[in-house]
Amino acid sequence: MTLSPARIRDPRDFGRVAVLMGGTSSEREVSLDSGRNVLEALVGRGVDAVAVDGIPALVAALTGSVGRRFERVFNILHGNRGGGEDGVLQGLLEALGVPYTGSGVLGSALSMDKIRSKQVWQSLGLPTPGYVSLERGDDVVAAAHELGLPVIVKPACEGSSVGISRCFRDADLAAAVELAARYEGPMLVEKLIEGDEYTVAVLGTDALPSIRIVPAGEYYDYHAKYVAEDTQYLCPGATGLVEQEFGSLALAAFLAVDCSGWGRVDFMRDRAGRSWLLEVNTAPGMTSHSLVPKAARNLGIEFDELVWRVLETSLARPTPGAA
Ligand SMILES: Nc1ncnc2c1ncn2[C@@H]1O[C@H](COP(=O)(O)OP(=O)(O)O)[C@@H](O)[C@H]1O
Ligand SMILES: [Mg+2]
Repeated sequence: MTLSPARIRDPRDFGRVAVLMGGTSSEREVSLDSGRNVLEALVGRGVDAVAVDGIPALVAALTGSVGRRFERVFNILHGNRGGGEDGVLQGLLEALGVPYTGSGVLGSALSMDKIRSKQVWQSLGLPTPGYVSLERGDDVVAAAHELGLPVIVKPACEGSSVGISRCFRDADLAAAVELAARYEGPMLVEKLIEGDEYTVAVLGTDALPSIRIVPAGEYYDYHAKYVAEDTQYLCPGATGLVEQEFGSLALAAFLAVDCSGWGRVDFMRDRAGRSWLLEVNTAPGMTSHSLVPKAARNLGIEFDELVWRVLETSLARPTPGAA
């Protein structure tokens, strides 16, 4: 596949760009790493881009009377509860009439909540593993038996595989819930899919080639994501009709939760060849180990070109407050 040509030629057409990174979430360090890469790529291509650390600093710059304002925001914050990825920042920017990259309020908020994403997918007949949502004090053994072991227990609104445990026996369940319950909000017990893991990046209206993730350990946990050097990434993850099916599924899942611009859809494929949606990431990592840059590279799109195209996603959405 090839992507349509970039829409903007002259970097001045973007105006002054805030690369919003860092913040106070648990994913601060990853965001700073991503943000520095994004900034370097934009500056290297002649864009008037400036690093901004966290939402309060951005608000000060957007509403203050000192210094030059920003024409748009490249959002590379990762995190929930006002951390930049859950719709709060997006609502703020809509209200201020400042265009930004990536999904809007609804897509960001829905994608941050794994239970609500699954409810939308289920209502549309899109495949996602069976689950039971769980509040503190609920009977996890009953929930797991309803689904049938093995299951996976997760906090509904976290990322980076934190708070997640796989459970193969009743005896694993109590500790799994105890771990997930350390994070705010509800939890879910989900049917564990045994098979292969994939992710598909979406850029504009296109699905990029899939990546098959092969962790050296048991699954793609925090260690395999950020520490291990022996996680394998195969791109494209499949060929022919299967690869086409992955692309269509990822786009359908992305659109169903009202995502736009760019993002990444995680899913599993079981041993019978059925795909199962796990979640959508609306501000995926852009570090040297990150997955979206790997998928883009497979199409011959180098990192700075990818960053340019993500910045272009800030042009498409009408901003009601701007009128
Ligand atoms: N239902 C499932 N079956 C098998 N593995 C799963 C399942 N859900 C999650 N995983 C594993 O846990 C990892 C993290 O889960 P995910 O739902 O993507 O949450 P996040 O990446 O936001 O922490 C996945 O990349 C996958 O390796
Ligand atoms: Mg994930």
